[in-house]
Amino acid sequence: MPSFNDLLEVPIIAAPMAGGPSTPELCAAVAQKGALGFLAAGYMSAEDFRTSIDQTRALTDAPFGVNVFVPPNDYRQPKQGDQGKLASEVEFKNYRNFRQLLIDDGVGSAEDFQEFPDFSNHDYYAKIDVVVETSPPVVSFTFGLPSVEVMQRVKDAGCLTVLQATTPAGIKAALALEPDAVAIQSISAGGHRAALDGIEDGTEDAALLDLVKQVRAMTTLPLIAAGGVSGPEDVAALLDGGADAVQVGTLFMTAEEAGTNDTHRKALLELKDRGTMMTRAFSGKLARTIKNEFALKYSDMAPALYPAVNTLTSKVKARARQAGDPENLHLWAGTGYTECQAVPAADVIDYLLGSTVAN
Ligand SMILES: Cc1cc2nc3c(=O)[nH]c(=O)nc-3n(C[C@H](O)[C@H](O)[C@H](O)COP(=O)(O)O)c2cc1C
Repeated sequence: MPSFNDLLEVPIIAAPMAGGPSTPELCAAVAQKGALGFLAAGYMSAEDFRTSIDQTRALTDAPFGVNVFVPPNDYRQPKQGDQGKLASEVEFKNYRNFRQLLIDDGVGSAEDFQEFPDFSNHDYYAKIDVVVETSPPVVSFTFGLPSVEVMQRVKDAGCLTVLQATTPAGIKAALALEPDAVAIQSISAGGHRAALDGIEDGTEDAALLDLVKQVRAMTTLPLIAAGGVSGPEDVAALLDGGADAVQVGTLFMTAEEAGTNDTHRKALLELKDRGTMMTRAFSGKLARTIKNEFALKYSDMAPALYPAVNTLTSKVKARARQAGDPENLHLWAGTGYTECQAVPAADVIDYLLGSTVAN
């Protein structure tokens, strides 16, 4: 089996981005340049996940990765319809209060907001079955560490494994599972924090280069750096600091092959003066978004309940997406989003490697 670093002709990874941006086309375009692309299983059904793997294989013979969310409630294994019963009394009360606030504020009607909190594991085990059956070259996990059993099944299926974390302590816990590579994500990253449930709280704000140096001192494993990368100087500094590869999300979101919805894409390209902020308002889990009305108004009120709050706000977000309204949509973006360009993914890679001059 090749080592993780053997898969990379150039040290760039197009980050897994659930919710649309990561497409088979983006994976294939990135692979064409010798970088590593990812599919993201989050928010998809297990069957759609399988289809996206098949589609990627039809487009390219090159290696690619897939990413799976480890559910925070792994141990609960709820059955369909059980969701409401799984919340504790406190969780249920916090959820109900936030739901009522959104109704009272006229963000939507009572029918728009699910009454019972969603604590389902979103097909986690079925997705692991898909991984085992299709054996994609690389599998990464986020939001938590897989169990020893899941890790072993994925390794036995011939996949290289990547575990992500946001602190040296999280990486230490990940190393105990003997992955093939580790990824450290800084707070500058777009989208959700890769904080490990029960180990990290997602608020650590150390700079990415410092995190890379600390993790490099802990392990000789292939090391991936992620978060807030805005151009070739960042890439060069991170590689110099000890990273083997740099994982970039936001700058690929406006690539032509990405599946980013038009409202989000337009915001990344046009709302350059807004800046970004961390918020739990859209999903219950800390994430970085372009500043907008919903995030500014509800960040202090939303309970830390994922995926319950993510599902609660889903109709509001869908409506905003369709209406082209950037104020009520999660506009995930890393701090480097001002460098986003509407270009082919190949050009993003050239830009990151310093082989072309931006703009
Ligand atoms: C829209 C979006 C969706 C994301 N979805 C995932 C995901 O499904 N799984 C994952 O491990 N990381 C996800 N991330 C985080 C990325 O893996 C990566 O850490 C981040 O994009 C790096 O920071 P940057 O966006 O500033 O380049 C997502 C990021 C964004 C922007």
